[in-house]
Amino acid sequence: MDDPRTRQAAFNTASCDQWEGFAAHRARVSALLGAGGVPRPTRLCVLGAGNANDLDLPALLAAHREVHLVDLDREALARGAARQGVGGHASVRRFGGIDLTGMLDAIAAWSPSTTVGAADLQALAEWPARRVAQALPGPYDVVASTCVLSQLIGNAFPALGNSHRRFLAVVEALRIGHLRLLARLVAPGGTMVFVTDVVSSDTLPDLASLTEGDLPGLLPRLARERNFIAGVHPEAILSALESDRPLSARIARREVVPPWRWRLHARVYLVWAVRLEMAAL
Ligand SMILES: C[S@@+](CC[C@H](N)C(=O)[O-])C[C@H]1O[C@@H](n2cnc3c(N)ncnc32)[C@H](O)[C@@H]1O
Repeated sequence: MDDPRTRQAAFNTASCDQWEGFAAHRARVSALLGAGGVPRPTRLCVLGAGNANDLDLPALLAAHREVHLVDLDREALARGAARQGVGGHASVRRFGGIDLTGMLDAIAAWSPSTTVGAADLQALAEWPARRVAQALPGPYDVVASTCVLSQLIGNAFPALGNSHRRFLAVVEALRIGHLRLLARLVAPGGTMVFVTDVVSSDTLPDLASLTEGDLPGLLPRLARERNFIAGVHPEAILSALESDRPLSARIARREVVPPWRWRLHARVYLVWAVRLEMAAL
């Protein structure tokens, strides 16, 4: 059995020295989370914070009263906060060892011949909001997911294989489970920021050489060509947000953010985000 905790920790160890390379991506993500804005007495929670290479923690601490960092990988959170000189900061809280799916061990034990039943799909869709949220002191004013959904879905690949007949159903259940978790953690009147990698230069080799102006037009092309990381195409995210009634009923305003590029080692990723303001009570 391929242990997803070990695999994710290895990815984080391999990317922890990429601080410089993350600069432009970090500026984008941090601005979306309020960095550089007027200081407010708010609490920010970031899911999938990992090494925090994509978070300007001092700037976020200047904008919010508290910053909570959540990840499966405890060491990555400690390392990331220490690198930015905020390891012992009273307003930074680290929640390591948290599995955002609540199902990681079950998923890791699956194989291509596992029967994935309705109860499994229901657990993937419901446990994050019902069980994982309890481990965090929400609700928060701002809740963000930073390029973690692709990893949650990616954790199911090695176990199940993408030719499993319920693979798509598993992807959909993981996706809605994650979006419902964000919604559960955000306070009425608060903001949900969902950031995801969409495609990499592995399957779109000309991504690095395109102009900035080409990037927005890429999304429909990627959808037509079915060239995107499983489960994270923006159309699918927006449609999942709209079709989940309890979730869509809470959204007061939606801002779709044009895509940008993020370089990680030799790979370039196309990244996209949506910012959702929730209705006040
Ligand atoms: C691509 S990284 C995000 C980038 C990260 N913010 C950084 O700057 O290093 C994805 C993160 O998701 C975390 N992750 C993967 N599966 C997870 C799970 N089931 N629960 C919680 N975190 C998970 C990994 O440990 C990793 O830190």
